[in-house]
Amino acid sequence: MTEFRSFLSLSDAGEDGLAAILADAGARKGARAGWPKGRVDADAPLRDCVLAMVFEKNSTRTRVSFDVGMRQLGGQTIVMEAGQMQLGRGEPVSDTARVLSGYVDAIMLRTDDHAKLENLAAHASVPVINGLTDRSHPCQIVADLLTIQETGRALPGLKVAWLGDGNNVLASLIEAAALLRFDVIAACPQGFQPDEAVVTEGRGRARVVASPHEAVEGADLIVTDSWISMGQAHADTKLAAMLPYQVTADLMARAKPDASFLHCLPAHRGEEVATDVIDGPRSLVWAEAENRLHAQKSILRWCFGQIG
Ligand code: CP
Ligand code: NVA
Repeated sequence: MTEFRSFLSLSDAGEDGLAAILADAGARKGARAGWPKGRVDADAPLRDCVLAMVFEKNSTRTRVSFDVGMRQLGGQTIVMEAGQMQLGRGEPVSDTARVLSGYVDAIMLRTDDHAKLENLAAHASVPVINGLTDRSHPCQIVADLLTIQETGRALPGLKVAWLGDGNNVLASLIEAAALLRFDVIAACPQGFQPDEAVVTEGRGRARVVASPHEAVEGADLIVTDSWISMGQAHADTKLAAMLPYQVTADLMARAKPDASFLHCLPAHRGEEVATDVIDGPRSLVWAEAENRLHAQKSILRWCFGQIG
């Protein structure tokens, strides 16, 4: 393969690439509505291609949505736990990249170390996709953007409130805000705000506040995520600091009357979100989870230069 693009961050696609991915995802989703999940799309655009997925951390959505998505595109997948690979016993990432590039047409990595993803991409001769790192989760945010678009909202000018931990998902949300011109107000407790570099990447579109009430006031969307990300210690002090940031019905009531709730899942009811919110009428979490499938199919097509 000569012509390919890696998807390590939303900025790799840029505004035009993201628009193309979102348009393609919406169209392809509509074209196969009601079909059995395993049926191949009519055009089978990735026929004969193989995607290798390497997981250093747990996953339900990323694993299954990439696997089924690749099959729908006419391709195949190999799913590996890093601990069962030589990578898990110290084979260099650079060697792994070169070897896998000889076997497969694209690689997805989920890792705790963003530098490892960059190293993989630097030494691979096939597209590499970020399936979540300690720094970012761009595939999740493309699915979120698709979910927001499906509600009929235009992204530019939206007010998105983030409550809780200043984590990897927030970092990608802020990156998207800069690219697509919506605003993110993140309410995070002291000590758990996003890094300054993340806020800077928002190019004036992201603001961090202490008060959850201030963040949700007039918001179009309220978004949260687990307070403890994978690989982080389960500290009681962190949970205590996070408690006022739980998305409750009271906080939802301070947002716009038609405000929606998003959460990348897995969720912890009674921690970052109250049960009546995530299971209530304003929650879009099931559509959001399904949209991982549709979004990633179009991310794969973008990597292969088929769109954007
Ligand atoms: N949201 C998300 O990435 O889910 P998984 O960890 O199950 O892949
Ligand atoms: N912030 C979470 C997202 C899980 C999909 C984590 O990194 O564990």
